[in-house]
This record gives sequence, structure tokens and C-alpha cells, in this order.
Amino acid sequence: MEQIIMYPGDNSKDAMDWKAIQGQHVTAVVRNILVIGSGGREHALAWKLAQGEGAKVFVAPGNAGTAGVGSNVNLKVNDFEGIKAFCLQHEIGLVVVGPEQPLVDGIVDFFRQDEQLQRIRIIGPDRKGARLEGSKAFAKDFMERNGIPTARCLKVNQDNLGDGIAFLATLHAPYVLKADGLAAGKGVLILDTLEEAIAELNEMLGGKFGSASATVVIEEFLKGIEVSVFVLTDGEHYVLLPEAKDYKRIGDGDQGLNTGGMGAVSPVPFCTPTFLKKVEERIVMPTLTGLRNDGVDYKGFIFLGLMNCGGDPYVIEYNVRMGDPETEAVMTRIEGDFAELLYACADGCLDKVHYAKSDKTAVTVMLVSGGYPEAYEKGKVMTGLDQLYGCVAFHAGTALNAEGQVVTAGGRVIAVTALGDSIEEARAVAYQQVTQIHFEGEHHRKDIGLDLI
Ligand code: AMP
Ligand code: GLY
Repeated sequence: MEQIIMYPGDNSKDAMDWKAIQGQHVTAVVRNILVIGSGGREHALAWKLAQGEGAKVFVAPGNAGTAGVGSNVNLKVNDFEGIKAFCLQHEIGLVVVGPEQPLVDGIVDFFRQDEQLQRIRIIGPDRKGARLEGSKAFAKDFMERNGIPTARCLKVNQDNLGDGIAFLATLHAPYVLKADGLAAGKGVLILDTLEEAIAELNEMLGGKFGSASATVVIEEFLKGIEVSVFVLTDGEHYVLLPEAKDYKRIGDGDQGLNTGGMGAVSPVPFCTPTFLKKVEERIVMPTLTGLRNDGVDYKGFIFLGLMNCGGDPYVIEYNVRMGDPETEAVMTRIEGDFAELLYACADGCLDKVHYAKSDKTAVTVMLVSGGYPEAYEKGKVMTGLDQLYGCVAFHAGTALNAEGQVVTAGGRVIAVTALGDSIEEARAVAYQQVTQIHFEGEHHRKDIGLDLI
């Protein structure tokens, strides 16, 4: 009879060795996984990982939704020492970093340089790799060096402001200005007139986004339709995760202010095999080669923000993490054990695992607080969450109050994802379920996916 051996903590790394050493068949894999972050993206990652064999998922700090698929850990994403202590105490085998800030701040370097943490796998690039997102000027240099298609640009600081104004004058409206550093997703400005662009350029260099805009990238405006393509790489091999389209503006028909993202659809119909082949050949492969040439050992996600210009892909931006709300759509289309894929990624053997995506279409609708993306109130009691069926509701900004009720705790509150055989079908289910969720001031877009039908 097969002997079932339960090991404490995370044993997946040593499962084969145990087998050899003990001479017994190991049937119980234990995987202790820590997801870092607290948004809808992290809920979706935790939800998918928790379905894997032997997975025990922790989320730091998490939200009311992640508490339902794992255990929340009261640690801030930048508390590296606290995260270290937790990982050691709970025998964490895999850390998945959700947001960019801890990556840019060097959480992966912290793990790799610490003797006790070295054996723990961590998904995400080190500080050097994270510059692809942390510095737009670096990313543009990287693309230029590696022949990766992107918009023409000039990098400007106080010393070459005159060149910047001259460069702007050679472009056509609208004008694109990007703060070099991280600016909480607000560092990209698109201006309609040259006068506005020059005024904003002066303001940015004068500290509009603090030190993040001490350098500004002026870019040619690319006309086309955007798509988010997600690469998971172990530095050598890669897989393309399902792509998605994000809806950034607050209002229907792409009107109003920019937000963190109001919805997503995956797959994206115009992302044909021909288009994706161009993405792989012109962007993914040269990006991975470029990283290797720069001596970057990149194990993690690369989110390519692409513009499809007449069938040709151009890079608008790199992110070194998954997208939000794209992840809430993408995770529902990944088949099989996602934890296994991430363990293989960290171990440098992504080519050895089977990976498949579902043919279904996922539609995600984000419910946000009244007033978002400007000032909004928190603490609104949410109802109807227990009435949902046929969808997954990923919590983005929620918390439990003293009475144990789920309350709003952010601008983006909850992302409802439904799967269907078509965009129409997935939309119908998602929007039907959205009507069941109530909280004071609730707002969502009604047109997610409509442009793709
Ligand atoms: P983010 O960097 O996510 O704040 O988003 C900036 C947004 O600005 C992108 O998603 C695009 O919609 C737009 N954008 C950025 N660069 C360009 C460009 N060169 N041409 C056209 N649109 C752009
Ligand atoms: N949805 C865009 C982002 O995550 O940056």
C-alpha cells in the first residue's frame, strides 16, 4: 500500500530527494505560498494558487476577499524584515510579489542576498530587472539598444529643456509626457496642444511628481488599440499567459479621468496568432535576450503594454508585475496548477511543465467607490456578495469592520469576473451578477467588452 507522508511546511523542492532518502512514495506535496499585496490582482493570484495541489496560501496584507482563499498576514509590502520573519516561521516555499513598489525597492535582492531566504523561491525581478518599470528613461534606452519597436522619444531634464521644447515642436498633437519614475500610475500626461505640453513639461521638471519627474520622457503619440500581453519567464524560457484588454477611463465610451482600470476582457479578438507571433519575435525574445545581456536573472512576470498599430505591435510600457484588473480576467483562463508553473519558473525549468489556457472568454467588471478616481469615502457596508453565482468576485479594496461585515476600503472595490463562450455571454453573466452587489455610491462601467464585439 502507498504510504502517505505528510511533511511540515513546504516540501515540494525536496519531494524527489525525500523519496530517494526514505525509499517511500511521496503522495502529499505541501506548498506554503505567500502572496504580497492587497488588491484584486492579489486576490486573483491567491484564488488561483489556492487551487493547486497541497497549496496553503498566505496574503500580506490581503483584504476581506483573500481571507476567504487563504490567511491574511498583517504585514506591509515594504516590511522586508517582517516578511522574512514570517517566511521562516511558516516555512514558505514560494513568494509571489503582486505590486511593483517592493520589486523596485529590491525585495528580490533582499531574498537572494539573505542566507536564510536564499532557498525560498520568489517570483519577480530583482532591482536591476525592475528598472524596466521603475524608470521609463531606462526602459526606452533598453528598447532602443535591443531594437524593440516603441514610440520615438527624447529624455529631458533641467539641463536640456530647450531640446525638449524643440522636440515637442517636431511632433503632432496629442503630446505624451511621462515622468521617469514611479508616480502611483499618474505619471503619464497626454496633452492636446503644444502650449499645454510645454507648460506641463516645465511643471513636471519643476517637481510636479517629486523626484519621479526630475527626468521626463517626451514621446510620439501612437495611434492604435491597446492590449496587455503577459509573459512569465524563468530568464531562459517563457510562456505567454492569456492576454487582456484593460479599460482605463472612469466613464463609458472611454470618457473621463484615468483610473487604475475599470474592467478587462480576455482573450482579445485582435490578438490573432499572427499578431502574437510578431509580439514574440519582435518584443518578447529581444527583451529576454536584452535582459540576459545586461546580466539580469529575471524570474517573474513581464507585462507588455502594447499598442497595435495597423497590425504591428509597439511597446507603450513595460511593467514587471501582472496587471490589475487584467489578472482578475487572466487567472480564470489558466488551466491546471498555477503554483506548479510558478515553482518551475523559479527553478528555471518552465520548459518542463505543461501549461494550457482555456478557450473561454473572461469579462471582468470593476465596481468602484463614488467619486473615484478623485476623493471617495470608505467604510460603506456591502451587501449581496453571498447572492452571487456563476462568477468570481475578486476583492480589490475591501475590509471587514468590527461587526464582521464586508465594507469598502478603497477606490476600486470589487472585480466581478464571468466566463462564457463569447464576450456577449460572459458580459451577460458578469453584468447580471454585478446588479446584485450594493454599496452606497457604487459605480461601474456598462460597456466593458462592447467595443470588441
Ligand atoms: P500608464 O502608464 O498605465 O499610466 O498609462 C498611460 C497610458 O497612456 C497608456 O495606457 C496609453 O493609453 C497612453 N499612452 C502612453 N504612451 C503613449 C503613446 N506613446 N502613444 C499613445 N498613447 C500612449
Ligand atoms: N491595468 C494596468 C496596470 O495594471 O498597470
